[in-house]
Amino acid sequence: MNDPDLLQDICVADLSSNVKLNGFACKPAASITDADFFFRGLAVPGATTNTTTGYLVTAANVEKIPGLNTLGVSFSRVDFAPGGLNPPHTHPRATEIVFVLDGTLDVGFLTTANRMVAKTITKGDVFVFPRGLVHFQKNSGAVPAASISAFNSQLPGTQSIAITLFAASPPVPDHVLTEAFQIGTKEVEKIKSRLAPKKAAEEALNSQYQQEKEKRHK
Ligand code: GLV
Ligand code: MN
Repeated sequence: MNDPDLLQDICVADLSSNVKLNGFACKPAASITDADFFFRGLAVPGATTNTTTGYLVTAANVEKIPGLNTLGVSFSRVDFAPGGLNPPHTHPRATEIVFVLDGTLDVGFLTTANRMVAKTITKGDVFVFPRGLVHFQKNSGAVPAASISAFNSQLPGTQSIAITLFAASPPVPDHVLTEAFQIGTKEVEKIKSRLAPKKAAEEALNSQYQQEKEKRHK
């Protein structure tokens, strides 16, 4: 399964439309431009400084490339500081295939039988994270690393496990987390307090950074 099949050549997303449907409403043909199919934001490394675990994802999905609407594919670039980690996360709507641009990554995913499928991959290597399964990438090297991932969805969606459970809004009740993780309320509160403010700060920083990057490349 990937995104639904298209019923026309193109349906460039009208990102400002209020019409809610599966994907985005199509722009009128007269307002489609070449730029709707173009994005230069993957050309340069993302800044990994000031992120908690030393990584930055730059997405090239329908939100950045309106021409991708209904086409069922997208990319992302991930940059890693030395030791940087893209923490365990899932994409509910896509399988991911990663290609290492630079450096060495320890990558892995977990099956529903709780088997870990993992490998150390290096420049030029490819690895697959099946749709919906929890996966991670860690730069175990002493130099920066970078990768490009392709997805069979125009908007794969990402749920980062720790953030999802410990920084949700409204919050997941402590008693759910203490029981699930077999730890005390103090530990739960500690994790919540460490993730919550950083998440908000990082999101603000990342969106500011992305906007500046896109401006530079227009
Ligand atoms: C990497 O796993 C990514 O989701 O971009
Ligand atoms: Mn991923």
